[in-house]
Amino acid sequence: MSFSADWLALREPYDVAARNAAVLDAVAAAFAKRESIAVVDLACGTGSTLRAIVDRLPPRQRWRLVDNDLGLLARAAGLARPPAREVAAVPIDLSRDLELAVAEVDLVTTSALIDLVSADWLDRLVVEAATRRLPVYAALSYDGRVALDPPDPFDRRLVDAVNRHQQRDKGFGPALGPAAVAEAVTRFARVGYAVVQGESDWVFAPQDREIQVEVLSGWASAAREMDEIPLPEIVGWLTRRRDHVAAGRAAMRVGHVDIFARPSGTR
Ligand SMILES: C[S@@+](CC[C@H](N)C(=O)[O-])C[C@H]1O[C@@H](n2cnc3c(N)ncnc32)[C@H](O)[C@@H]1O
Repeated sequence: MSFSADWLALREPYDVAARNAAVLDAVAAAFAKRESIAVVDLACGTGSTLRAIVDRLPPRQRWRLVDNDLGLLARAAGLARPPAREVAAVPIDLSRDLELAVAEVDLVTTSALIDLVSADWLDRLVVEAATRRLPVYAALSYDGRVALDPPDPFDRRLVDAVNRHQQRDKGFGPALGPAAVAEAVTRFARVGYAVVQGESDWVFAPQDREIQVEVLSGWASAAREMDEIPLPEIVGWLTRRRDHVAAGRAAMRVGHVDIFARPSGTR
């Protein structure tokens, strides 16, 4: 599954606004007494997690940015140049070489990834983290909650189809989709981790037209791929929703959750 740099750039300011402050505070507090830190960002895209948390971590930082999309990685390497930080952009297929990616770091970060992965892959992540006693900050996982304003009688049916589409294979086996956070919390708790979690919903106001249209169009495509709803009904829904956006009367909330999972006891 590929993600365009344009899409990642469009969503980044909404992601920044959405990141849960209490979870971010917990990440910062965990490393507050240290002078240096080595971080791996899994599925980094263009490096949005680095930009979001670089100022919350110890002054000396070594980042390994990992993705399997060479175009995005090249942008990440170009964009992520905070002064006095070492940044290496490393191409790794995480469905295969996760273990390589998380070697020799103090913190694992990721965003908008956990909902794409399978239960088996999540097990691998938890095992790799737990055996190394690594904390994991996983932000912005979609959890299936959607509120659209003004409401349309067809919203529920369409979002249900989208949520089933979220469970299709995104390159890591059958995806956990909206269940990902709950599954991650359960697994981390099972290996003795303490987990801080909090909502990090996208909130789109009527003036946020471009991202609303992009998200709604993506959902219509996903619903079409599910082949459960007649095409004219999907087209009718998208047309009505786009009309609301164009008229400046549409607002959206899209549910996401951030977690920070940390081995209990001292590091
Ligand atoms: C939704 S984007 C999130 C990007 C970035 N973390 C952010 O929040 O902007 C998902 C990312 O996962 C990466 N990805 C998907 N499958 C991958 C794989 N098998 N190995 C490594 N990266 C992968 C994509 O290239 C993309 O950058």
